[in-house]
Amino acid sequence: MDNHDTLEAFYRRIWEILDRHYCREAMPTEQFSPPDVLDRQMDIAIPAQGIDTDTLLEKLETLLTYTPNTRQPGYMTTLFGGRVDAAYAGKLVTTMANNAMHTYKAAGAQILVEREVLDFMLKVADLPRGEGAMTPGGTASNFIAMKLAREHAVPGAEMHGWDGRRYRAYTSAASHYAIEAAAGNIGLGERNLVSVPVTTNGKMDVQALAERIHADQQAGFIPFYINATVGTSVLGAIDPVAEIASIARRENLWLHLDAAFGGSLLLSHRMRNRLGCAYGDSLSWDAHKMMGIPLTCSVILIKEKGWLDKAFQAPAQGDYLFQTYPEYNPGRNSNQCARTNDALPLWMALQNLGRDGYEARTERQLALARYAAKRITDHTDMVLYTEPETINVCFRSRHLDSETVCRILDETHGIKLSFARLDHHTYLRLVCVNPDMDKAFIDNLTDKIHYIATQESS
Ligand SMILES: Cc1ncc(COP(=O)(O)O)c(C=O)c1O
Repeated sequence: MDNHDTLEAFYRRIWEILDRHYCREAMPTEQFSPPDVLDRQMDIAIPAQGIDTDTLLEKLETLLTYTPNTRQPGYMTTLFGGRVDAAYAGKLVTTMANNAMHTYKAAGAQILVEREVLDFMLKVADLPRGEGAMTPGGTASNFIAMKLAREHAVPGAEMHGWDGRRYRAYTSAASHYAIEAAAGNIGLGERNLVSVPVTTNGKMDVQALAERIHADQQAGFIPFYINATVGTSVLGAIDPVAEIASIARRENLWLHLDAAFGGSLLLSHRMRNRLGCAYGDSLSWDAHKMMGIPLTCSVILIKEKGWLDKAFQAPAQGDYLFQTYPEYNPGRNSNQCARTNDALPLWMALQNLGRDGYEARTERQLALARYAAKRITDHTDMVLYTEPETINVCFRSRHLDSETVCRILDETHGIKLSFARLDHHTYLRLVCVNPDMDKAFIDNLTDKIHYIATQESS
């Protein structure tokens, strides 16, 4: 693009494509094609010589036609979906500004925005003496939490190393696989992460936790960390945090709360006291899940200040970067060097909706889940696994396995649901994360599943 007019025309044409796909009321559904067929049919090879703009934009249009549209209510396969438009505008600004968030020198006022957003989240989580950091996702936040726990158990481990094989960490069988990854990453070893059974409603069995800790102590291991999940990925269940916290306190273990999914429930006055978030030593919270912020926007919050400095011992090198205003250089306490300002989209959304707007949005998500559960119970040919505790509704057809239902919904109806094994059956997981859904959508979906199951099984 060698002059401003050409650049403007180029952006305008890109905007027309984005508008068609993502901004209109009647948005196109993604066309489905199996990956091998799509790979043959789409021309995405990198050319030796640059191509003209028309051809490039045609390729882009084709690409988006076969890309799942996460804005539509029919997209329900992840724990995010739908969006707050102000946040998406913020993401565009972040991309155009392209600041690296390690230092004030590189990012200027953007650093103040990140600090403001972290302060807001600490306040919402009721952690007045705490500190926080942006991370590239819940997986990364959970990893940092285990680093903090290691530093708590073995001060100086970050600097001098540790023998992780003597230690034990605990998480429920329904927790996210990020906790296993963290165990490997900090040198504990995945085998030393104990999987604690869950009760039938998907919550950690606290009695079993206490017994496992005791047995491990008797066997000579050193328990050091418990993860409690606030909003499990499949059922949206909340572990009994207060009871788990009393065990953690008694044994002097670090208690991390993986609220990557459920942290946003703190924005509901009705729900916030049920979460127990203030009991944790640390907390992961993804705004890119329930809050409608573009990927990725995640934080790790810590109850007491100072832990980030301990777990990210100031690197001996890096003086060429960290030169001015040391307390405004978040790069020191991060696993990343260059990173974009993920806080700006959230800041834009919070400016736009305010905390009250977010409370209403969260209540709507919860109400949609209650409505979906009721509709499913009305269908005598469907089984609801359990009443939803948050926004996930797990159910199955009595006549057709959930994997087949999911495949047909995806390939012929443009609807993406997930399925998961719970006890002896496979269940569909309906996540009411997109407030653009309405009751008519849910009625239509359950009727469709009823129809598919009846047709396929007859
Ligand atoms: C409970 C829980 N923790 C952690 C994660 C990982 O978060 P991310 O995808 O942002 O890495 C997820 C993702 O769905 C989750 O449900």
